[in-house]
Amino acid sequence: MRIAPSILAADFANLESEIKDVEASDIDLLHIDVMDGHFVPNITMGSNVVGALRPLTDCELDVHLMIENPDQYISDFADAGADMISVHVETCPHLHRTIQLIKEKNIKAGVALNPATPIEIIEPIIQDLDFILIMTVNPGFGGQVFIESMLGKIRKAKSLIDERGLEIAIEVDGGINEDTLGLCRKAGAELFVAGSSIFGQSNRSIAIDKLRGV
Ligand code: DX5
Ligand code: ZN
Repeated sequence: MRIAPSILAADFANLESEIKDVEASDIDLLHIDVMDGHFVPNITMGSNVVGALRPLTDCELDVHLMIENPDQYISDFADAGADMISVHVETCPHLHRTIQLIKEKNIKAGVALNPATPIEIIEPIIQDLDFILIMTVNPGFGGQVFIESMLGKIRKAKSLIDERGLEIAIEVDGGINEDTLGLCRKAGAELFVAGSSIFGQSNRSIAIDKLRGV
């Protein structure tokens, strides 16, 4: 299991020390939430922030694009140092092409699904994916409550992957804490994004240990 702290919940005035703080707990992935104020009702950060963080950390940078027309920005985020990029299926009328654009950059390609979007939508291109990001809240804000009915979607995703003998990671994002992580893990998730349950806590190493079930 891998844990990806979401810097959305970090102190933006001190991002470098915030990252060092979680890296001390053997974190190998950082989740970066990019929001455009159109696809989701919030604006966060762009590829310049990814570029600024890149030299500060050895962690893989997991960029979650919650933006319309992601094709236009994939190259910028990849060149800035993203190791993984996920796009929302709801924003991609030409999803196969978008996934190929990410892969041409030699980084991992993922598709994110809103809670109301059925998993079956990715079936035709599932073999092209490195990971599937199942939203367990409606995207746009940190600190929301986990939607329990998403556990069924995680189980379905796991069966679609296993039936085909594929190696695709299932990532979950939203409301992940020490109670919900175990439920998602049991359902088949392997990569856990956590914002407020890590950066919202004063002792991040205790928070990460709790998530790991230590
Ligand atoms: C929500 C973002 C999440 C967010 C999770 O739209 O995609 O990555 O940072 O925050 P928590 O863990 O606080 O629900
Ligand atoms: Zn996210």
